[in-house]
This record gives sequence, C-alpha cells and structure tokens, in this order.
Amino acid sequence: MMEMQWLRRGLPRGLFNRALLILLLPILLLQAVIAVVFIQRHFDGVTRQMTEAVAYEILYAVETVENAASLSDAARQLEMLAVPLGLFLTLDPDTPITPGLKLGFWDLSGRALADELARRIARPMAIDLMRDDKVVFLHVATARGALLAEIPRRRMVAANPHLLLVWMLGSSAVLSAIAIAFLRNQIRPIRDLARAAEAFGKGRTLPFRPRGAAEVRAAGAAFLAMRARIERQIEQRTRMLTGVSHDLRTPLTRIRLALAMMEPGPETEEIASDIAEMERMLDAFLAFARGDGQDEPAPVDPASLAARIVADAARMGREVELRIEGGPPGPVALRPATTRRAVQNLIDNALAHGRRVRLTLRLSPQALAFVVEDDGPGIPPERRAEALRPFVRLDEARNQDRGGGVGLGLAIALDAARAQGGGLTLDDSADLGGLRATLTLPR
Ligand SMILES: Nc1ncnc2c1ncn2[C@@H]1O[C@H](COP(=O)(O)OP(=O)(O)OP(=O)(O)O)[C@@H](O)[C@H]1O
Ligand SMILES: [Mg+2]
Repeated sequence: MMEMQWLRRGLPRGLFNRALLILLLPILLLQAVIAVVFIQRHFDGVTRQMTEAVAYEILYAVETVENAASLSDAARQLEMLAVPLGLFLTLDPDTPITPGLKLGFWDLSGRALADELARRIARPMAIDLMRDDKVVFLHVATARGALLAEIPRRRMVAANPHLLLVWMLGSSAVLSAIAIAFLRNQIRPIRDLARAAEAFGKGRTLPFRPRGAAEVRAAGAAFLAMRARIERQIEQRTRMLTGVSHDLRTPLTRIRLALAMMEPGPETEEIASDIAEMERMLDAFLAFARGDGQDEPAPVDPASLAARIVADAARMGREVELRIEGGPPGPVALRPATTRRAVQNLIDNALAHGRRVRLTLRLSPQALAFVVEDDGPGIPPERRAEALRPFVRLDEARNQDRGGGVGLGLAIALDAARAQGGGLTLDDSADLGGLRATLTLPR
C-alpha cells in the first residue's frame, strides 16, 4: 500500500507524460542492459583475444633476446623481428623497470588489455597507457635487461566501441521522437473530449467531433449522445413551460377584459388581485423556462453588480448591507442577467423572511461567491434540499400572507449557478441567525 502511494505520487499526472514514461522506460532499460552486457562482455572479450595474440609476439621477442648469443646479437635479432611483427622493439638494458600500470579510470578496454598482457607474459613489466592514447608502451624484464615495446593500441583493442553507443542512442532518439509524435496524436482527442465535457458542464456547447482510437471515439460519441439528450430535455422543458404560460395568458387577458366591463365592487377587486397573482406566477414560469443561459458570458464587475442590487433594494425602501472581501477585484466572465437574477432571488427571499439582510461578495483568485444572510427563521437542515427544488414552497401557511411566491426563486438561482459551473448551498448564518445562501461561481 505504501509503495503504491509512493508510486502514484512519483508518476507524472498527465496522460501524455505517463504514456511517454511507459514507452520510454523499457527502451532506456533495454539500452542500459545492452550497454552493460554487450559492451562490457563483448568488447572485453575481443580486447582479450587480440591482446593475447600480441602477448605471444612479445613473448617470442623476449625468447629471442634471451636465446641470443650476445647483447649485440640480441639487438640485431630484435631489429629483424620488428618489421614482420609490426612492433617497435628495442633493448634498454640500463634502465631499471618499476613494474606497474598507468591507466586512466575511464579506460575500460585498457584495463582488460593490461590484465591480459600481465597474465600472458607473466614477467615483471611496466605498462603505460597514459602517455599516448594510440600507443601502448610496455617494458618487460628479460635476462638481458628491459625490453621496450611500442605497440599500436588498435592491434589490441576492438575498434570504435563508441560507435555502437552512438548508434544505440541515435536510434532510440529517433524511436522516441516517433513515439512522441504518435502519442501527441493519440492524446489530443482525449484532451478535446475533456475540454468539451468541461465546457458543457459550465453550460457552453463547444463544437466537438469524436476522433482517435476506437475507445476514445466511443467515449466521444457517448458524450455527444448524452449532450444531445440533455439539450433536448432542457429544450422540451422550456417549450412546455413557455407553451403553458403563453396559453394561459390569453384566457387570463380575456377574464381581465371581462372584469373591466363589470361593475366594480369587492368581488371584482378580489378577482383582479387573483389575476394579478396568476400573471406574476406565469412571469416566474417563463423566467424559469428561459433561465438556461439566454445571455452570453461577458466580463462583469461583480462588485458593481452587487452594488446595483443593493441600490435597487434601497429604492424599494429596504436596506441591504454590502460587504466585499478578498480579491483580486475586476471584471469576471459571467452571464450578467442570469447571475443578477440569481442573486436578486436570494435577496428577495432574505428580505421576505428577515429584517436585517447582508450581501457579502467574497473574491478569491479561482472563484467568487455571493453570500446572502438574513436574521429570519432560516430553513431547517433536512428541508434545504427540498427548498432548492422548483415549485417547492416550504410552510405554505407561513408564506401565504406574503403574497405568493411560486417556489422557483431558489431553483432559478441554483440553475444559474450550475449553468456557469458553480453551485448554491444553504446553511445557517453565524452572526445574523437566519438563512445563509452561498452562490459560488468559478472565475
Ligand atoms: N431566507 C429564507 N429564510 C427562510 N426560508 C426561506 C428563505 N429563502 C427561502 N426560504 C424557503 O424556501 C422556499 C423556496 O424558496 P424559493 O425562493 O425557491 O421560492 P419562493 O420564495 O417561495 O417563491 P419565488 O421565489 O419563486 O417567488 C420558500 O417558500 C421559503 O419557505
Ligand atoms: Mg423566493
């Protein structure tokens, strides 16, 4: 479990990077294994084989020197040997040998070479691989003194071992480039789908066409079908509500006309007020039906939107306290009419149920919230979800004398928030004691 978490945290978050990792990790591992096994083993073996041949030539020269009749004879015979063996050989009887090895730490093949020479020749000797990287200087002890051999290094070491590395790195670079190009093309349809789904969640319909691998295309097609179904349902709801509202309006108008012809009296007055109430309800239905994003997002300053709502309330003789918290200020992409209507509905509710009402605009870099609080009776927790549903009025008796809402205010506000990728929550106001409605919107 712990390991899994560690792994999850270590993994890159994006699909592209993950796929890249899955693809490239085996390639890199394979390369490392090949590099170690092949270069180390194979080139090591080749170096040892070639060195062995040279070692026998040196041994032959050593024998020749030791079997010669005299020092000058030895020198002469060495000179004759040097040409067919292709080595530079001299006798240096006066210099003493300090056995040892001069080798750079990077020189892997040099290590195998020196190792093999020492093993085959089995005499005290000094090997110098550092003085010249193309020539090996070798002092071997003989009975006639030091034998100096200068051996071209290429006779003992496999040529150009780095070429293999170059080929390996080059080909894996080409492979990786191809893989990255392919991956990009595979990931793009997924990214497009995510973008379209996110936009639809916020109430915008982006053009989208399923592309890519079969599974991704299937997901895209499913998303399109789902989007079409939701759009169809919204459209049906809108059409039904507008149709009903519209059709009811005509007989209502007729009743009102008929009423105007009648003698005015207490009964006609009552009927007239009922008609007015029905018309108000129909207006609410229509507004709810049209609520789904009739207006397009535009840059709006939320502070001035809040100030306008407060000013409207003041004109109606009601005081709403306005607070603005956090930042940064400035315009935010919002649906102006939809948002304003949502906040207005919350304020209307607060004014209807409470005496003190406060509107707080809370800003943060990612989101903004309109918080409406009042000192009214509030809504008990178990009824809050119900209150958000359309056509629900809690406690009919309590509301009766306030001149009939239809129970759409909170539903419209919730719709407005959801259509913009936000939300609406109800809870208790800590310092006013009534309801606190919080409408959040992403920035
Ligand atoms: N601030 C509040 N304090 C107490 N109860 C509330 C508050 N706001 C809403 N409610 C309750 O929630 C119910 C639903 O509110 P909603 O705004 O959806 O409808 P409404 O106000 O009855 O009608 P409409 O807003 O459509 O005119 C209300 O009937 C009311 O009982
Ligand atoms: Mg209301």
